[in-house]
Amino acid sequence: MAIEQLRAGSDNFSYLIISPSDNHAALVDPSTDATAALHRIDDLNLTLDYIIITHYHSDHTAAVPTVKRRHPAAKVVASEADGRLLKNRPEIIVKDGMVLKVGGISVKVIATPGHTPGGICLLVDSEALITGDTLFIGDCGRTDLPGGSLREMFDSIHKKIMPLPDSLLVYPGHDYGDLPFDTLGHQKQTNKTLKAKTLEDFAKIP
Ligand SMILES: [Fe+2]
Repeated sequence: MAIEQLRAGSDNFSYLIISPSDNHAALVDPSTDATAALHRIDDLNLTLDYIIITHYHSDHTAAVPTVKRRHPAAKVVASEADGRLLKNRPEIIVKDGMVLKVGGISVKVIATPGHTPGGICLLVDSEALITGDTLFIGDCGRTDLPGGSLREMFDSIHKKIMPLPDSLLVYPGHDYGDLPFDTLGHQKQTNKTLKAKTLEDFAKIP
């Protein structure tokens, strides 16, 4: 299993999930500029199976049409709630617990509303967690944008992310932290949004 973290847009990250045994791949969040991702796909001669959207915000999705034109067989994947807000309507609607196969890799969808109603995280082969704007290094995503919910974010973090293994590598949707990625175990110890044990404490975080 290989994940490539690619800088895109101003401070966004896109991700290529690559199955090395057969060169199948998925691109997560093409961002506003998929140039780097498209070059990597060409350089590595990858077969792009999926364009997976963690949430509908345009800084994660504006380049979806560009990628789709270059790789028309790649299917756009999103949750129902966020997918209906995309210009490219998703061809695959995913729900919590669904698993996509990228070559030999399993990509499990974890519904994590809070930043948007249909935001998802992706558990990649029990080794990595691509978190979109749900979890950043040191923080979590905003809950004050349209469709956001502080209570849902708290539940997503504490019921969905906290039970996952410490060994997972957390790959966020933006380069907002002091590291580009980190282990979930270290984030459980240091990230103020994971350390807040009650909704009341969570709500007080600046
Ligand atoms: Fe966002």
